[in-house]
Amino acid sequence: MASQRMLTSGNSRLVFQPEQNLLREAVVESGASRVFVLVDKNTEKHCLPYFLEQLGKPKGLTVVKMNAGEINKTEKNWLSVLAQLHDAMADRHALLVNLGGGVVTDLGGFAAAVYKRGIRYINVPTSLLAMVDASTGAKTGIDFRYTKNELGVFYEPEYVFIDSSYLKTLPERHFTAALAEMLKHSLLNSEDALKAFLGADFKDEKLMEKLIFKSVQFKSLIVQQDFRESGLRKQLNFGHTFGHAFESYYLNTEKILFHGEAVAVGLICALYLSQSCVHFQKDLLGRITDWIKDRFSLPIPDESEFEAIFSLMMRDKKNSGGSVLAVLLSSPGHPWHDKKINKKQVFEALDYYSKVVKGWL
Ligand code: GLY
Repeated sequence: MASQRMLTSGNSRLVFQPEQNLLREAVVESGASRVFVLVDKNTEKHCLPYFLEQLGKPKGLTVVKMNAGEINKTEKNWLSVLAQLHDAMADRHALLVNLGGGVVTDLGGFAAAVYKRGIRYINVPTSLLAMVDASTGAKTGIDFRYTKNELGVFYEPEYVFIDSSYLKTLPERHFTAALAEMLKHSLLNSEDALKAFLGADFKDEKLMEKLIFKSVQFKSLIVQQDFRESGLRKQLNFGHTFGHAFESYYLNTEKILFHGEAVAVGLICALYLSQSCVHFQKDLLGRITDWIKDRFSLPIPDESEFEAIFSLMMRDKKNSGGSVLAVLLSSPGHPWHDKKINKKQVFEALDYYSKVVKGWL
């Protein structure tokens, strides 16, 4: 394993390729009254044995279980996690370790935030998406009434342990989907970061470790300056205004989209509007849509579905005063947040996206 590296993000310590000593110190010798590990059925099978091995197979850890997948990021499962903590007599000095992807780290963080008015927690992201985005930055929450992350709070984990060994058991579709969040970070970062990302060989494990570190480092720099998202941090929602609407729209269908896939859709739509509103380069728009085309299989909404997607966009929590607000990019590294976009522009972007994806077939 490559050597351990660290970053700080607010009061959280982000540890890359953690050494066993530090893991043990943070979890087993943390001074917590009890340690609880939250897993879903996938991470219980594929990740828990390795995690316990890393900790030296400690005794006395209690496993808390939740159902897997975005469809289960609900108040029902959140209450079930809280009930398991309560029934196991967890006190306010307990420690919760969230071992899983973004659904586990978001929901587990939100449970830690409210249980006995807040207990300590640690994130151990096991998916690429959780490593580069969901597990850092202290956003916790659940979906509500088919609206993404409608309920939640900012609540910081003590540690985030990012160990790329977990990616060995991650299904390819999950891995590819998460590349969209990394693409987003490199678009927001700089021309150089984007160039390096677009030319990368993602099968190269050493290179992947570096790209994960760079992606988290970029996000942490932004979060550090604007923890509560009053300005600068809004840029991290690039592609998410459209993306969240697509994710919610297809949530209960057989075309269910992973979060990263929805972000890929959102990036195409937001880059299209960036080109038409703030002069983003047309050939770069084409290059990025081609890059997405080579990796993703995405749905094509019919024109009759645009209205429903637009309604979901109107519910986005980043909106204000009844207008849809989006992040646009004039060039790599130069984002504009709170750009008002109207219904006509949304429909134009959806039309562009649909035609582009149809062209792939
Ligand atoms: N995922 C965007 C943020 O954490 O702000």
